[in-house]
This record gives sequence, C-alpha cells and structure tokens, in this order.
Amino acid sequence: MKILIIGGTGGIGRAIIEYCLSNDEHTTVYATYHCTPPSIDHERVTWYKTDVSSEADVFALSLRLTKFDLLINAVGTLHSPDHRPEKSINEFDLDFFQHNFNANTVPTLLLSKHFALHLKAKYPTYFIALSARIGSIEDNRIGGWVSYRCSKAALNMAIKTISVEWKVKQPNCCIIAFHPGTTDTELSKPFQKNVAPQQLFSPRYVAHCLLDVIHNLTPENTGRFYSYSGEEIPW
Ligand SMILES: NC(=O)c1ccc[n+]([C@@H]2O[C@H](COP(=O)([O-])OP(=O)(O)OC[C@H]3O[C@@H](n4cnc5c(N)ncnc54)[C@H](OP(=O)(O)O)[C@@H]3O)[C@@H](O)[C@H]2O)c1
Repeated sequence: MKILIIGGTGGIGRAIIEYCLSNDEHTTVYATYHCTPPSIDHERVTWYKTDVSSEADVFALSLRLTKFDLLINAVGTLHSPDHRPEKSINEFDLDFFQHNFNANTVPTLLLSKHFALHLKAKYPTYFIALSARIGSIEDNRIGGWVSYRCSKAALNMAIKTISVEWKVKQPNCCIIAFHPGTTDTELSKPFQKNVAPQQLFSPRYVAHCLLDVIHNLTPENTGRFYSYSGEEIPW
C-alpha cells in the first residue's frame, strides 16, 4: 500500500506513520512536514517540505508523486502563540480566523484539487481529512471557539461537496472526515486539565482507531463523518 500523510510531524500524523510502518512491512509512506523537521528516518518513508495552505506548494508536490492508495490530511491548528480559541464572539479577531481557515480548511480543498487523479483507480482508494466533532453544526450545544468551529464546519462541507462530485468522476475514491477525540498532542496541551484521563487518547491509540475505521470503509461510505469509535457523527 502507498500512503501520503500530510502533516507527518504533528502528534497524530507522526503516530499514523509509525503505526503504518509497524503494521505492514509492504507499506510505502510519502509524508510532508512544515516547520517542524521530521524525526522519523526510515527507508520506506520519503519526506517533502510543504506548506499545504499554499497552492504553489501543493501543486509542486502533486508533480513529484504518482498514484497512491490513501491520503490522510493530519494538518490543523487550534491556537497560536498569541491567540487562544475564543470564549465569546467579543474576542473574534480576523487574523486568527483566517489563520484557522488556512490550516484547517484550505489544505483539504487544495489537496483534493491537485491529488484527485492520484487517487483515481479501478480499486478503492481513500482521502481522509482530520476534522473535529466541534465542527458538527448539529452537535453544537455549548458554543465558543468560533474560529476553530467555523473552519472545521467549512472543512466538513468541503468533504461532503467533493464526495458528491467524486461519486460521478471517481466512484472508487472514498472521502471522509474523521474525528480523533481529544488526543495528547501540542494542539490540545493547553486544554487538557479538565479532560478525564480515560478521555485523553494517545496518538498511537488514535492512529490505530483511524486505520481500523479505514479498514471497514467502502466507496459507499463516501461523504460521511466518522468518530474514532467508528460511530457516524451528524454533519
Ligand atoms: N489533538 C486533539 O485533541 C484533536 C482533537 C480533534 C481534532 N484534531 C485534529 O487532528 C489534526 C491533527 O492534530 P494534532 O493533534 O496532531 O496537532 P499537532 O500535533 O499540533 O499537529 C498539527 C500539524 O499541522 C501542521 N500544520 C499546520 N499548518 C500547516 C500548514 N499550513 N502546512 C503544513 N502543515 C501545517 C503542523 O506543522 P508545523 O508545526 O510544522 O507547522 C503540525 O505538524 C488537526 O486537524 C486537528 O484539528 C485534534
């Protein structure tokens, strides 16, 4: 199996690479990194430095790679050095909102535009975007975190929209959004103190859950939103 992991030096992205390498000795991994240099040095992993919010970078990457079976976009952001997610709309800041959209929404749109043909095949292929339950409009009961929430809701709409188009153009490609649950990474670090220990997952556990979900997917499942448990989440 050939897989492309976008954001391979993030907490969950790195764990997915490690899990895939240890789980199947025939897996070949292409992986991207952004600012953080890669710490995995392995003969079956090839690294590419890529800013996936830049169309020029995504297009350049698409020219360097041929077909593969699975693309996982594990890039995202929740906070920046000078901004935490908003508790109230009064804290709304346009730069922070755009920062969220650049990291959480734009990459999946660019990747689906430039890698559609890499995933077009006569057998099932998969495009997975890491989303978050907080992006579900139906599930929104407590409000807050408006920039992250909107960027993940927009990501979810992108997945649904692309799935409708690909059902016609490349019906063997299954595109879904995946919610990993609260996972112990840099992204969630500032918000972990109120999370019960059993609700805070290790990146390795989440990688295992994701590969289990993918294992059970068929092209008929395209355009859906799945949790780490395999349960479907309403959009
Ligand atoms: N951890 C959680 O509790 C949790 C819960 C729900 C959903 N998620 C989602 O899961 C995904 C992975 O999160 P994580 O916990 O693994 O976070 P993480 O450890 O902070 O990793 C995020 C990765 O995104 C990369 N990135 C950000 N902007 C980028 C850009 N423009 N181009 C390329 N790479 C970029 C970062 O690279 P650099 O650092 O090098 O910039 C980093 O490798 C995210 O989409 C997140 O929203 C996580």
